[in-house]
Amino acid sequence: MSRDLLRLSGKVALITGGAAGIGRATAELYLEAGMQVVIADNHADRCAEASAAMPAALVIEADVRDPDDVARIIDETRQRFGRLDVLVNNVGDYLKIFTPFERSTEEEWEALYDINLKHMFRMTRAALPLVKASGEGGSIINLSTVEALRGIPNATVYSAFNSAILGFTRSLSVELGYHGIRVNAIAPETTDTIQVTADPRVPLANRPHIRTWFPMGRFGRGEDSAGAALYLASERLSGWVTGTTMVVDGGVIAAGAWMRMQDGTSFTHLPIIAADGYTDLD
Ligand SMILES: NC(=O)c1ccc[n+]([C@@H]2O[C@H](COP(=O)([O-])OP(=O)(O)OC[C@H]3O[C@@H](n4cnc5c(N)ncnc54)[C@H](O)[C@@H]3O)[C@@H](O)[C@H]2O)c1
Repeated sequence: MSRDLLRLSGKVALITGGAAGIGRATAELYLEAGMQVVIADNHADRCAEASAAMPAALVIEADVRDPDDVARIIDETRQRFGRLDVLVNNVGDYLKIFTPFERSTEEEWEALYDINLKHMFRMTRAALPLVKASGEGGSIINLSTVEALRGIPNATVYSAFNSAILGFTRSLSVELGYHGIRVNAIAPETTDTIQVTADPRVPLANRPHIRTWFPMGRFGRGEDSAGAALYLASERLSGWVTGTTMVVDGGVIAAGAWMRMQDGTSFTHLPIIAADGYTDLD
């Protein structure tokens, strides 16, 4: 990859949850683009493996829900690199909570808030002085989900917090544009990672539907969203793009409920399979 094209060489990126999945793919792509990478992840084994696989990266074992850990992540980044250009707020999880809203609990709401939204506020607030210090602008990238853009039954609170990420992104972009700092979001559709492990969970009998469910004919891969994160990191490529959401979904949102029939000849907006393979039936 031409480093001159992206003009990212030497820029410093901090990726939360960067030891696996979309965050890991982003870390690998950023390194390939010549960036310095900091990974903050709370899973010890994944951190050890990521550190061995990416010796150039600074891997910090830390929980972004813990305010002390957030402060330590920024301190260690400052000590090692002296600057921060790109913050990827990647941690987020539905926590395997599929509860009809009427039966949802306050404990579930708090847990979903902590893992999907609150840490983004904390991490971003803690990072901003270091991002601003270079006087060279910067890019903040928040991972949301397509479920912020459409309704998802039984994951209502997860969806609400992820919609809030888009509001946070838009308003912060207006605040920070004056400082040359861009703020954008990425909204992936089902992406095969540890959290979703899409492929194994779809029953074999339903596999042919994957081709027709996604207009692009497959589940997402970590590198699909990483590509969007690379574009959004690069001032050269996306220097006038802020306050937006990049949907990375293989065309699913564009299709809405419209799906190609298995014979490939026509379309329907009526259900064509009994279940999606990973949402429990009530
Ligand atoms: N995979 C999907 O289908 C999908 C779809 C839509 C949105 N997303 C969003 O994309 C982002 C990345 O998802 P993924 O599927 O790659 O996730 P993942 O669960 O596969 O990986 C997340 C990483 O974050 C780490 N992590 C979890 N909690 C943490 C914490 N409190 N502090 C620090 N690190 C923590 C994990 O150890 C792991 O390495 C999330 O925000 C998720 O909501 C994913």
